[in-house]
Amino acid sequence: MKGFVLTPPATVDLMVERLFRDRRPQRRSRLLDPGCGQGAFIEGVLRWCRSNHAECPEIVGIDLDPAQLCHARQHVAGEARVTLVEGNFLTCDLGSFDYIIGNPPYVGIEELSEEERSQYRQLFQSARGRVDLYLLFWERALHVLNDAGRIVFITPEKYTYVETARPLRRMMLRHQLDELLYAPEDTFQGLTTYPVIATLTKHAAERTTMVQLRDGTSHTAHLPTQGESWQPVIHRSPSLSGAKTLADISLRVSCGVATGADDMFLFDRAQLPSAYIPFAKPAVAGRDLRPEQPLQAPHRLLVMPYDEDGALLPLGSLGEFADYLQQDAIRRRLEARTCARRKPWYAFHETPPLPDMLRPKLVCKDIAKVPYFWVDTDGGNVPLHSTYYVVPGVPQLLEPLFQFLNSHEVRHWLLSNCQRAANGFLRMQSTVMKRLPVPDKLVEALVERSLAA
Ligand SMILES: C[S@@+](CC[C@H](N)C(=O)[O-])C[C@H]1O[C@@H](n2cnc3c(N)ncnc32)[C@H](O)[C@@H]1O
Repeated sequence: MKGFVLTPPATVDLMVERLFRDRRPQRRSRLLDPGCGQGAFIEGVLRWCRSNHAECPEIVGIDLDPAQLCHARQHVAGEARVTLVEGNFLTCDLGSFDYIIGNPPYVGIEELSEEERSQYRQLFQSARGRVDLYLLFWERALHVLNDAGRIVFITPEKYTYVETARPLRRMMLRHQLDELLYAPEDTFQGLTTYPVIATLTKHAAERTTMVQLRDGTSHTAHLPTQGESWQPVIHRSPSLSGAKTLADISLRVSCGVATGADDMFLFDRAQLPSAYIPFAKPAVAGRDLRPEQPLQAPHRLLVMPYDEDGALLPLGSLGEFADYLQQDAIRRRLEARTCARRKPWYAFHETPPLPDMLRPKLVCKDIAKVPYFWVDTDGGNVPLHSTYYVVPGVPQLLEPLFQFLNSHEVRHWLLSNCQRAANGFLRMQSTVMKRLPVPDKLVEALVERSLAA
């Protein structure tokens, strides 16, 4: 069963309302529910037609899964206007439609067979990168929708901002995207998802898009049409002024060190064998960072088989630390990491850029309810991969950058631009942080200090 999730009747009814708003179905109209599962939307359409005394359109439901279709057949038994088809919506020819409504499957590329992947890459412009079936359902639905027809889909909100969905965003905005309604996180019982209900009418865009957010507020938005992320416009990101970005004034904006086996390389300060001291540095993990409190001296140390320039040291120069690494159980764990196929078995998953990293810097958690930055004033700490760090172009920018990154405006900007993790938490990303516009005075300070140096 690929991606089955049952849509609750209240959500179905709200979507059917939007499907027929200002355009009642007629008897000759054709309506499609792709990935119809047990027929929740088909029942919703029949319900709407009955209670609104409307003509029932011809309804087609298609699903790959015979077991779901069996339930659907029972639910719509005796309904002459309904046809159920067992097949693949992405490749089947069912003709064209005036209405399309549904909850497409959320199935990531890793769950598709090699054959499906290459077939979909050939057929769909949106089959790029880490594609998901619901993106392809959107593209196929746009293709089989008649001019002036309407689609209402509930899907994860991710396509509104991820890079993979850039072609789909461009395709969608060739038409009138009437509404984006952010549905509650608990819409699907037992699953935390971030669903959005999109209503699109297939004609040239003539109006702005109505956006209804989960906090109950709504506004109209001019979404960018060239495939850019819609998120800043949807969440009304404050317009931070400045021609330069955080990347322009920083030596580094990166995720912390990934060893691939932290428990093998991290030691409690009190238990660190003295022979390892030359290779050890205090290490900061996301959970060591306490909101609104200064950075504490970390209680754990990362023992690194690297020199100060970040070059991997030969085992022979690591003394007792090499004996430790070569113990059977430890060596086996290290060799089992995927990185050990392309690097020496005791190297870190990623080579730590120590000359850049061990400088005065700011650190933040990789996942946070509200973004906050801490100062590592002397730069002696190694940020682990549950953190991100920002090394300013000159150390004198540390304090002003700390003030700026913890300002209300930046917090709001990050909340509007970063991806969501579970339970309303924010996933920081270096690609997004790098794009943060910085005030001109920070840029001027950087230039002045660099010239003076
Ligand atoms: C998220 S469920 C939604 C089910 C139903 N529409 C509802 O909302 O209750 C997605 C459905 O798509 C079906 N599906 C997955 N891949 C499909 C494909 N390529 N063609 C047709 N149906 C597919 C699954 O079997 C599943 O029933």
